[in-house]
Amino acid sequence: MRACDGVKLSCDSVGFRTDIDSPGTPEFARRSTAVLALPPSTAFCYNSGVRTIFVQSRPPVARINRRFFVARLGVNVDHVATLRQARGGNDPDPLAAAVLVELAGADGIVVHLREDRRHIQDRDLRLLRELIRTKLDMEMAADETMAKIALTIKPDLVTLVPEKRQELTTEGGLDVPAHKDRLQQVIGMLHDGGIPVSLFIEPDLGHIRAAHKISADFVELHTGRYANAKRSKEADTEFEAITQAAKLAYKLGLGVNAGHGLNYQNVKRLTHIPEIVEYNIGHSIIARAVLVGLDQAVREMKALLN
Ligand code: PXP
Repeated sequence: MRACDGVKLSCDSVGFRTDIDSPGTPEFARRSTAVLALPPSTAFCYNSGVRTIFVQSRPPVARINRRFFVARLGVNVDHVATLRQARGGNDPDPLAAAVLVELAGADGIVVHLREDRRHIQDRDLRLLRELIRTKLDMEMAADETMAKIALTIKPDLVTLVPEKRQELTTEGGLDVPAHKDRLQQVIGMLHDGGIPVSLFIEPDLGHIRAAHKISADFVELHTGRYANAKRSKEADTEFEAITQAAKLAYKLGLGVNAGHGLNYQNVKRLTHIPEIVEYNIGHSIIARAVLVGLDQAVREMKALLN
């Protein structure tokens, strides 16, 4: 297995019985690393359906084998659903987009099931779970109703995000210290179902420490301030904040993803931060796809992450 590639294992191949052993547990990770001949503590296990487990190496392997490391690309297809909802019909279907995105080489599909269902619908999520072959990252608000839906769908990762009805897109990261009890409760529910959890947070050291304390598996660093910086000095400051946040998260054993506002001009610089293993990008890819096609838009972004 190449560093940081995902690999699918059946429960049988690590000697687990799905009816009694939870794929999300540290013990499962331990046995999986043994099967894959990876150093101990270097694998996350995603519960991906009943019998197949997605094992993904942790950042330390990426660092050791930096030469081979390519950050993963998760493509957010919410905007395809937004276009569909504009006419209230069936087209374009985010499912069709997800298939094309995967064929173009993306490493995962990201969707945000919002409370107001303004773009992605429950049906989309259900069918995406059946359809996609890579990794399904479900973004959602940290509440019990959403957690129950996630436990039924079983995405490979849940990313908890703040949600306000009036916002155009997710503005700002979670305030982890302020909402730690609720977040911890939802994380606990998802962990009980074998689902790893990421918290979408600003690149702030206090929030990283708080995320670690309440047992998050990943953080997704909000790159909006970096992406929207008007002057290069401002971009430098934000880049530095992301670098320091990624380093601390990594040191604490959290997986590090990043996203929001990233495009073909600003993403390359972030790839110099080795702790970031995955970028979740939506608007810029779908916007470019309108002009050049989805296949080319995804391939161009993948090439930038290489
Ligand atoms: N990551 C998270 C948690 C998000 O909420 C969003 C926006 O839906 C993105 C990444 C993608 O942001 P953008 O569409 O600006 O690329």
